[in-house]
Amino acid sequence: MKTYTVAELLEKNLVLQEVEVKGWVRTFRANRFIALNDGSTLNNIQCVVDFENLDESVLKRITTGAAVHIIGELTESQGKGQNVEIQVSKIDVLGDSDPETYPIQPKKHSFEFLRENAHLRTRTNTFSAVMRLRSSLSFAIHQYFNENGFYYMHTPIITGSDAEGAGEMFRVSALNAKNPPLTEDGEVNYKEDFFGKETNLTVSGQLEAETYAMSLGKVYTFGPTFRAENSNTSRHLAEFWMIEPEVAFMDLDGNMDLAEDFMKYVLKYVLEHNSDDLAFLEKRLLDEEKTKPQAERSEMSLIEKIKFVVDNNFKRVSYTEAIEILRNSKPNKKKKFKYIIEEWGADLQSEHERYLVEKHFKCPVILFDYPANIKAFYMRLNEDGKTVRAMDILFPGIGEMVGGSQREERLDVLKDKMAALDIDEQELWWYLDLRKYGTAVHSGFGLGFERLVMFATGMGNIRDVIPYPRTPQNADF
Ligand code: 4AD
Ligand code: MG
Repeated sequence: MKTYTVAELLEKNLVLQEVEVKGWVRTFRANRFIALNDGSTLNNIQCVVDFENLDESVLKRITTGAAVHIIGELTESQGKGQNVEIQVSKIDVLGDSDPETYPIQPKKHSFEFLRENAHLRTRTNTFSAVMRLRSSLSFAIHQYFNENGFYYMHTPIITGSDAEGAGEMFRVSALNAKNPPLTEDGEVNYKEDFFGKETNLTVSGQLEAETYAMSLGKVYTFGPTFRAENSNTSRHLAEFWMIEPEVAFMDLDGNMDLAEDFMKYVLKYVLEHNSDDLAFLEKRLLDEEKTKPQAERSEMSLIEKIKFVVDNNFKRVSYTEAIEILRNSKPNKKKKFKYIIEEWGADLQSEHERYLVEKHFKCPVILFDYPANIKAFYMRLNEDGKTVRAMDILFPGIGEMVGGSQREERLDVLKDKMAALDIDEQELWWYLDLRKYGTAVHSGFGLGFERLVMFATGMGNIRDVIPYPRTPQNADF
């Protein structure tokens, strides 16, 4: 006799065989029907208990959340709702679950409540579906890069440089916080710290990825990044995962092509491999939207939205064109935006990005050639002397999903830029070396993994697409 997963029992043709399965009880109905789930699929397997011949003491222990070991014959089901079921001949309760205190009862729980019980929330359909999709997307990401000749590179998590400027950093220190060594000026003396200098958690693996692109050609990182921004929004985490490809001899157009091809590939992958989970999440979203006024409901269902992205070209628009569109837009003229767009050079807020993708273009948009002074120092300066070869990819319902650029490969231009921004050349000597020895055009981007998972699952809060979210004032579990 073989132990099967629930997925195998439902998919393989095993009828009339004696089978064995282990899982958790979702519901137990009429002292007879156990809905059993083991995480291998969204679906439960029905296990039929002959209660007249089962010890009363065992029967009582079959409660929601209990872990059980079941042996029985797989048969075609008489009832509606499932094709097969197990006629239980032996059941062992491996782990009891007190129905008085078990938090995940078979009813609708709010996402807030489930966040407080994040250690158990993957025992619900919604969160198990989200996390299976998350896993599937991660796999598809590695597969895409592997198929396309990229090397997977592990960039450091502790960094000694704070030059990227992508956000506020978390300090890493082994000094005694109560009584740190001080310099003569009374400042904390990091020379005596573990690494002999100030260190932080990384905000991005880009600068290190550039060094590998300039030798291995095509590389990517996929790891955790950390930002100590106090942004308590539904789209920001203090710890999030980022995918950062970096490619030698590739310009910004190539970068846009890569990002678009990559995103379509991974979304197509989940359409093909996670149809049950997507169908469930689509229905969940539909039910949620029924409670909203008509105007706020989305025109497309979840699967339609994903297919739309897979099947249509992203719209490519320069920053300058976008500013014109925004300047002439209704909400700008009627002063409905919080930040009114008056002139070229303004930084785009999320209200502007959302207007562009959700109201104006109604599709993913790649904005490129931003003003130099609102973007990072390493982006390549255009001939006009005022814009850089930057790109942001904006998604309906999400806003910014990707940020990337062609990198400044000219040593003198890069040095001037660093000097203007007061960035210490000594600190980035190795980064400058790339421009001294065999410099070449190269480009890359960063994709916020949780924002991609939000898009693919239709979840509205980033806290619900990562197992244990870290946000201001919260690092539970
Ligand atoms: O635009 P960002 O800051 O770009 C970089 O860090 C570049 N070094 C990437 C590169 O060129 N290799 O961040 C990239 C993406 C954003 O577009 C967004 O999707 C996501 O990371 N992101 C966040 N996701 C969740 N929480 C946060 N606090 C995020 N900050 C950025
Ligand atoms: Mg950005």
